[in-house]
Amino acid sequence: MEVSGEQKKKVIFSGIQPSGDLTIGNYLGALKNWVKLQNEYDCYFCVVDLHAITVRQEPKDLRRRTLEVLSIYIAAGIDPEKNTMFIQSHVPAHSEASWLLNCYTYVGELSRMTQFKDKSKKYEESVAAGLLNYPVLMAADILLYQTDLVPVGVDQKQHLELTRDLATRFNHAYSPTFVIPEPYIPKAGAKIMDLQEPTKKMSKSSDNPNSFILMMDPPEVIRKKIARAVTDSLGVVRYSDEQPGVKNLMTILSVITGMTPEEIEAKYEGQGYAQFKLDVAEAIVKELEPIQAKVKELLDDKTYLENIYKAGAGKANYVATKTLRKMQKKIGFIPVAK
Ligand code: TRP
Repeated sequence: MEVSGEQKKKVIFSGIQPSGDLTIGNYLGALKNWVKLQNEYDCYFCVVDLHAITVRQEPKDLRRRTLEVLSIYIAAGIDPEKNTMFIQSHVPAHSEASWLLNCYTYVGELSRMTQFKDKSKKYEESVAAGLLNYPVLMAADILLYQTDLVPVGVDQKQHLELTRDLATRFNHAYSPTFVIPEPYIPKAGAKIMDLQEPTKKMSKSSDNPNSFILMMDPPEVIRKKIARAVTDSLGVVRYSDEQPGVKNLMTILSVITGMTPEEIEAKYEGQGYAQFKLDVAEAIVKELEPIQAKVKELLDDKTYLENIYKAGAGKANYVATKTLRKMQKKIGFIPVAK
């Protein structure tokens, strides 16, 4: 509800796919920042299950992960009262708007998307058409809520560019319909890298489990993975591009503890990596323990979760349907008879 005299809050939309278990990369790079946005913005945080099925998902895993991602949102500190949290497939306007927008999107621009090119190499023979159309669905997600700002990592910037192009194209073909969204790059944007190949982004889809730390990894697994994390033979804790493994561990420690890289360098001067690695592992364990406990509690209380995603879908549906009706009307569809 808008209060007169008070400025309308800017709208933020973001989502995570339930296509793999979340890593600390998702948490430190995205979720932890979302928590900070909730007071200042009108936030929509979605579990994008429609995106997840662009590659084949085991139904029971998809169900489990969808609720787990939602629980992680809440456990990480996203307040269900202040934000709209929902499951993408619960709001049919996403699928509908996606079809409409597909008809304003060129195959050429979709096949040029870097992510599509990478993924279609990986799946070769069985590239689903959904993989090609994926960014159009993402555009629908964003545009339906008249989103001002989209917190995204660098890997999604191209998709956001396409979203802006589609919005502009539609607005020009008819009349102003969509807000043109801007990327929101947080000031302290943390990109967490792969623990085994620290020049690559940490990804839940890596084949080597030592490459990532999952949000739900137990403490002993976290300790083992950090102990095995690739460093170098220099033996100095220094924040430098020449030491990507050490730099990554420093980033993790810095985002969790608030210490600056300089402070970390000073603390471990002349000490090699042993104590540093132990401390990184302990910091992660301490940060994740309360979140993991809360996630387990939430997953045991299905009624509570149900109430949250039901209320979220209700709020989202209202806003999204309004935009969808506008699109349909401008395109020239006959409104459904009342
Ligand atoms: N494509 C995004 C990713 O894989 C997830 C996503 C779907 C998203 N819809 C979105 C992100 C809308 C921001 C806004 O990371």
